[in-house]
Amino acid sequence: MSVLIAPSILSADFSKLGAEIEAVEAAGADWIHVDVMDGHFVPNITIGPQVVKALRPHAKKTFDVHLMIAPVDPYIEAFAAAGADHITVHPEAGPHIHRTLQLIRSLGKKPGVVLNPGTPIDAIDNLLDLVDVILIMSVNPGFGGQSFIDSQLKKLEAARKRIDASGRAIALEIDGGINPETAKHAIAAGATVLVAGTAVFQGGPSRYAVNIAALRG
Ligand code: DX5
Ligand code: ZN
Repeated sequence: MSVLIAPSILSADFSKLGAEIEAVEAAGADWIHVDVMDGHFVPNITIGPQVVKALRPHAKKTFDVHLMIAPVDPYIEAFAAAGADHITVHPEAGPHIHRTLQLIRSLGKKPGVVLNPGTPIDAIDNLLDLVDVILIMSVNPGFGGQSFIDSQLKKLEAARKRIDASGRAIALEIDGGINPETAKHAIAAGATVLVAGTAVFQGGPSRYAVNIAALRG
Protein backbone atom coordinates (compact mmCIF):
# COMPACT_ATOMS: atom_id res chain seq x y z
CA MET A 1 0.00 0.00 0.00
CA SER A 2 1.30 3.45 -0.80
CA VAL A 3 2.10 5.91 1.95
CA LEU A 4 -0.71 7.98 3.47
CA ILE A 5 -0.47 11.77 3.65
CA ALA A 6 -1.80 13.58 6.71
CA PRO A 7 -1.70 17.37 6.23
CA SER A 8 -1.22 19.23 9.51
CA ILE A 9 -3.72 22.08 9.66
CA LEU A 10 -1.26 23.96 11.85
CA SER A 11 0.08 25.38 8.57
CA ALA A 12 -3.36 26.17 7.10
CA ASP A 13 -5.07 29.57 7.04
CA PHE A 14 -6.64 29.71 10.52
CA SER A 15 -9.26 32.22 9.36
CA LYS A 16 -10.88 29.53 7.21
CA LEU A 17 -9.95 26.13 8.58
CA GLY A 18 -13.13 24.42 7.38
CA ALA A 19 -12.48 25.43 3.77
CA GLU A 20 -8.82 24.47 4.12
CA ILE A 21 -9.75 20.95 5.24
CA GLU A 22 -12.15 20.59 2.31
CA ALA A 23 -9.42 21.80 -0.05
CA VAL A 24 -6.74 19.36 1.13
CA GLU A 25 -9.20 16.48 1.04
CA ALA A 26 -10.11 17.37 -2.53
CA ALA A 27 -6.36 17.47 -3.27
CA GLY A 28 -5.83 13.91 -2.04
CA ALA A 29 -5.21 14.07 1.74
CA ASP A 30 -5.73 10.70 3.47
CA TRP A 31 -5.99 11.85 7.09
CA ILE A 32 -6.40 15.31 8.63
CA HIS A 33 -3.75 15.89 11.31
CA VAL A 34 -4.82 18.24 14.09
CA ASP A 35 -2.13 19.63 16.41
CA VAL A 36 -3.47 20.54 19.85
CA MET A 37 -1.07 22.62 21.95
CA ASP A 38 -1.49 24.17 25.38
CA GLY A 39 1.40 26.59 25.91
CA HIS A 40 2.58 24.37 28.77
CA PHE A 41 3.55 20.94 27.42
CA VAL A 42 4.83 22.77 24.33
CA PRO A 43 5.60 26.47 23.91
CA ASN A 44 2.66 27.26 21.60
CA ILE A 45 -1.13 27.41 21.87
CA THR A 46 -3.43 26.22 19.10
CA ILE A 47 -6.94 24.81 19.30
CA GLY A 48 -9.21 22.93 21.69
CA PRO A 49 -12.11 20.50 21.51
CA GLN A 50 -14.68 23.12 20.53
CA VAL A 51 -12.76 23.93 17.37
CA VAL A 52 -12.26 20.23 16.60
CA LYS A 53 -16.03 19.77 16.93
CA ALA A 54 -16.72 22.71 14.63
CA LEU A 55 -14.29 21.41 12.01
CA ARG A 56 -15.34 17.77 12.06
CA PRO A 57 -18.31 18.17 9.65
CA HIS A 58 -15.95 19.68 7.08
CA ALA A 59 -13.94 16.45 6.83
CA LYS A 60 -14.81 13.05 5.38
CA LYS A 61 -11.43 11.55 6.20
CA THR A 62 -9.93 10.35 9.46
CA PHE A 63 -9.34 13.04 12.07
CA ASP A 64 -5.92 12.32 13.53
CA VAL A 65 -5.72 14.38 16.71
CA HIS A 66 -2.23 14.87 18.19
CA LEU A 67 -2.46 16.08 21.77
CA MET A 68 0.46 18.13 23.05
CA ILE A 69 -1.11 19.04 26.37
CA ALA A 70 -0.43 18.15 29.98
CA PRO A 71 -2.11 16.84 31.94
CA VAL A 72 -3.77 15.06 29.04
CA ASP A 73 -6.20 12.70 30.81
CA PRO A 74 -8.83 15.30 31.78
CA TYR A 75 -9.35 16.23 28.10
CA ILE A 76 -9.49 12.84 26.39
CA GLU A 77 -13.26 12.52 26.64
CA ALA A 78 -13.81 16.01 25.26
CA PHE A 79 -11.69 15.30 22.16
CA ALA A 80 -13.40 11.95 21.67
CA ALA A 81 -16.81 13.62 21.86
CA ALA A 82 -15.63 16.34 19.48
CA GLY A 83 -15.12 13.75 16.73
CA ALA A 84 -11.48 12.70 16.90
CA ASP A 85 -10.93 9.29 15.25
CA HIS A 86 -7.36 8.83 16.42
CA ILE A 87 -6.11 10.34 19.65
CA THR A 88 -2.33 10.31 20.00
CA VAL A 89 -0.60 11.13 23.27
CA HIS A 90 2.93 11.59 24.59
CA PRO A 91 4.12 9.38 27.49
CA GLU A 92 5.38 12.54 29.21
CA ALA A 93 1.89 14.10 29.24
CA GLY A 94 0.52 12.10 32.14
CA PRO A 95 1.55 9.73 34.92
CA HIS A 96 0.17 6.52 33.31
CA ILE A 97 0.43 6.27 29.53
CA HIS A 98 -0.99 2.73 29.56
CA ARG A 99 -4.12 3.89 31.37
CA THR A 100 -4.50 6.85 29.01
CA LEU A 101 -4.40 4.54 25.99
CA GLN A 102 -6.94 2.22 27.62
CA LEU A 103 -9.21 5.20 28.19
CA ILE A 104 -8.99 6.25 24.53
CA ARG A 105 -9.83 2.73 23.41
CA SER A 106 -12.71 2.46 25.88
CA LEU A 107 -14.23 5.51 24.21
CA GLY A 108 -14.19 3.74 20.84
CA LYS A 109 -11.29 5.73 19.42
CA LYS A 110 -7.97 4.57 18.05
CA PRO A 111 -5.14 5.24 20.50
CA GLY A 112 -1.65 6.28 19.50
CA VAL A 113 1.62 6.93 21.30
CA VAL A 114 3.95 9.75 20.27
CA LEU A 115 7.70 9.75 20.85
CA ASN A 116 9.61 13.03 21.04
CA PRO A 117 13.09 13.15 19.50
CA GLY A 118 14.61 12.64 22.95
CA THR A 119 12.29 9.81 23.98
CA PRO A 120 13.78 6.32 23.54
CA ILE A 121 12.08 3.70 21.39
CA ASP A 122 11.76 1.38 24.42
CA ALA A 123 8.88 3.60 25.56
CA ILE A 124 6.58 1.67 23.19
CA ASP A 125 7.65 -1.81 24.26
CA ASN A 126 4.84 -2.37 26.74
CA LEU A 127 2.22 -0.55 24.67
CA LEU A 128 2.18 -2.42 21.36
CA ASP A 129 -1.00 -4.34 22.14
CA LEU A 130 -2.83 -1.12 22.98
CA VAL A 131 -2.00 1.22 20.10
CA ASP A 132 -3.21 1.59 16.52
CA VAL A 133 -0.75 4.37 15.73
CA ILE A 134 2.87 5.04 16.62
CA LEU A 135 3.96 8.59 15.86
CA ILE A 136 7.65 9.41 15.75
CA MET A 137 8.41 13.11 16.09
CA SER A 138 11.17 14.24 13.72
CA VAL A 139 11.17 17.73 15.26
CA ASN A 140 10.64 18.90 18.81
CA PRO A 141 6.91 19.53 19.07
CA GLY A 142 5.47 23.02 19.17
CA PHE A 143 5.91 24.59 15.77
CA GLY A 144 5.63 23.92 12.08
CA GLY A 145 8.42 24.72 9.68
CA GLN A 146 11.31 23.13 11.59
CA SER A 147 14.05 20.97 10.07
CA PHE A 148 13.86 17.17 10.06
CA ILE A 149 16.11 15.59 12.71
CA ASP A 150 17.93 12.79 10.86
CA SER A 151 18.65 10.73 13.97
CA GLN A 152 14.95 9.88 14.14
CA LEU A 153 15.25 7.67 11.05
CA LYS A 154 16.95 5.03 13.22
CA LYS A 155 14.05 5.24 15.64
CA LEU A 156 11.61 4.79 12.77
CA GLU A 157 13.47 1.65 11.70
CA ALA A 158 13.39 0.34 15.26
CA ALA A 159 9.65 1.04 15.49
CA ARG A 160 9.11 -0.74 12.15
CA LYS A 161 10.84 -3.86 13.51
CA ARG A 162 8.75 -3.86 16.66
CA ILE A 163 5.50 -3.41 14.72
CA ASP A 164 6.39 -6.24 12.32
CA ALA A 165 7.29 -8.50 15.24
CA SER A 166 3.98 -7.69 16.95
CA GLY A 167 1.97 -8.86 13.95
CA ARG A 168 -0.47 -6.01 14.56
CA ALA A 169 -1.61 -3.51 11.91
CA ILE A 170 -0.19 -0.44 13.60
CA ALA A 171 0.23 2.72 11.50
CA LEU A 172 3.74 4.18 11.70
CA GLU A 173 3.54 7.94 11.40
CA ILE A 174 6.30 10.52 11.17
CA ASP A 175 5.75 14.19 12.01
CA GLY A 176 7.95 17.23 11.46
CA GLY A 177 10.11 18.60 8.68
CA ILE A 178 8.65 16.32 6.01
CA ASN A 179 9.30 17.47 2.44
CA PRO A 180 9.76 15.46 -0.78
CA GLU A 181 13.37 14.66 0.17
CA THR A 182 12.89 13.68 3.82
CA ALA A 183 9.70 11.81 2.84
CA LYS A 184 11.82 9.38 0.78
CA HIS A 185 14.04 8.60 3.77
CA ALA A 186 11.06 8.21 6.10
CA ILE A 187 9.32 5.82 3.71
CA ALA A 188 12.52 3.79 3.31
CA ALA A 189 12.77 3.58 7.10
CA GLY A 190 9.27 2.12 7.32
CA ALA A 191 6.85 5.02 7.77
CA THR A 192 3.33 4.40 6.49
CA VAL A 193 1.89 7.85 7.21
CA LEU A 194 3.57 11.21 6.60
CA VAL A 195 2.37 14.28 8.50
CA ALA A 196 3.21 17.48 6.66
CA GLY A 197 2.24 21.07 7.34
CA THR A 198 4.51 23.45 5.48
CA ALA A 199 5.11 21.10 2.56
CA VAL A 200 1.38 20.69 1.89
CA PHE A 201 0.04 24.19 2.52
CA GLN A 202 2.82 26.24 0.92
CA GLY A 203 1.69 28.14 -2.16
CA GLY A 204 -2.02 28.08 -1.27
CA PRO A 205 -4.94 25.90 -2.43
CA SER A 206 -3.96 25.77 -6.09
CA ARG A 207 -0.77 23.92 -5.04
CA TYR A 208 -2.21 21.40 -2.57
CA ALA A 209 -2.64 18.54 -5.05
CA VAL A 210 0.86 19.01 -6.49
CA ASN A 211 2.37 19.32 -3.02
CA ILE A 212 0.67 16.14 -1.78
CA ALA A 213 1.63 14.18 -4.88
CA ALA A 214 5.27 15.26 -4.45
CA LEU A 215 5.37 13.69 -0.98
CA ARG A 216 4.19 10.33 -2.27
CA GLY A 217 7.38 10.11 -4.33
C1 DX5 B 1 4.76 20.03 15.49
C2 DX5 B 1 3.52 19.38 14.92
C3 DX5 B 1 3.60 19.08 13.49
C4 DX5 B 1 3.86 20.24 12.59
C5 DX5 B 1 4.48 19.78 11.31
O1 DX5 B 1 4.60 20.13 16.86
O2 DX5 B 1 3.22 18.18 15.62
O3 DX5 B 1 2.44 18.37 13.06
O4 DX5 B 1 2.73 20.99 12.32
O5 DX5 B 1 4.80 20.89 10.54
P1 DX5 B 1 5.89 20.85 9.38
O6 DX5 B 1 5.42 19.84 8.40
O7 DX5 B 1 5.85 22.24 8.85
O8 DX5 B 1 7.19 20.49 10.02
ZN1 ZN C 1 1.56 16.80 14.97
